[in-house]
Amino acid sequence: MTTEIDWDQLRDAAIDAMRHAYVPYSNYAVGAAALTEDGRVVSGCNVENASYGLTLCAECALVSQLHMTGGGRLTAFVCVNGAGEIIMPCGRCRQLLYEHSAEGMVLHTVSGLRTIDEVLPDAFGPRDLETEAARKEQL
Ligand code: THU
Repeated sequence: MTTEIDWDQLRDAAIDAMRHAYVPYSNYAVGAAALTEDGRVVSGCNVENASYGLTLCAECALVSQLHMTGGGRLTAFVCVNGAGEIIMPCGRCRQLLYEHSAEGMVLHTVSGLRTIDEVLPDAFGPRDLETEAARKEQL
């Protein structure tokens, strides 16, 4: 799967997105881009707020765009800083990405290509809720 991914194209999309970042407080622009199973590229930038804790990471916008453009699952992901350098998605955003990941989703990270399971081991996810729902039905 990794051989079919055009990482240069994906990184360029992340850089394009980064240029739209609204970061008056941290001055740290982020752009994120991902490939969907059906070949779309979705992207997002971070948007900060005067109430600092309300900041939306670039990945939030990306996930929104995923659903706005037809949904589906993500197969590949990269995010960059204001200099266009690859950065790691924050912990919260790894969880966001996990929810929408295709099996074996690959991330271009600061330490090379890593799967979603490698960057978020033993993740809590939708299957855990299904298990709980099934347990309650048995009671
Ligand atoms: N940021 C993201 O957009 N995504 C990440 O995965 C890491 C952090 C943003 C949030 C904030 O606007 C800025 O980077 C500095 O923390």
